[in-house]
Amino acid sequence: LVYSALAVLAAYLLGSLSFAVIVSRVMGLNDPRTFGSKNPGATNVLRSGSKAAAILTLALDAAKGWLPVALVRWFGAPYGLEEGTQALVALAAFVGHLWPVFFGFKGGKGVATALGVLLGVSGWLGLATLAAWLVVVSISRYVSLSSMAAALFAPTFFLLAGGPLWYADHRVAAAIGAMAGLLVWRHQENIGRLLRGTESKLGQSKNKAP
Ligand code: G3P
Repeated sequence: LVYSALAVLAAYLLGSLSFAVIVSRVMGLNDPRTFGSKNPGATNVLRSGSKAAAILTLALDAAKGWLPVALVRWFGAPYGLEEGTQALVALAAFVGHLWPVFFGFKGGKGVATALGVLLGVSGWLGLATLAAWLVVVSISRYVSLSSMAAALFAPTFFLLAGGPLWYADHRVAAAIGAMAGLLVWRHQENIGRLLRGTESKLGQSKNKAP
């Protein structure tokens, strides 16, 4: 139990590293919380005009979801860390991104971190969900819409293809379902903009408010 609690705490702290803010600061760019959608995430960092910063943010925000889940999966067993801890660690990293202790509990929407978590649970699950995201984004050009669609695909894939490709543990399934719910809930403003037709499309707006 002690190892499990420590792993969950470490995952939350790791998740609390808001890489959109950190990368922008290090690269001398404007704080993503001050322009565009004001969201500290890779999509909004892209609106600063720096593709490199956006890709780095995406990679690091995904890595912080992937690492704790993969560590528990690969090395947890001797410490008694099983799927229950894997599920909690996944949620902790995701919750850290949404409510980061280091940034006044004002975080992002969790898209990149959720992708990392899914890759940590299973490479196939992560890649299948990423593929679904790519299909929707290439058709719609809306990152937010694609992220919400992918969030609904992820638990569906996990339950449907579990068995031959991965072990669909019910606690991990619940964590993925909760992540999907929180992710969609964090997109309320995007949903409003999509309905009003004012959501910015990929490669469209730079610094202007969507
Ligand atoms: O990265 C989150 C994405 O789905 C939407 O981001 O900045 O357009 O609200 P944003």
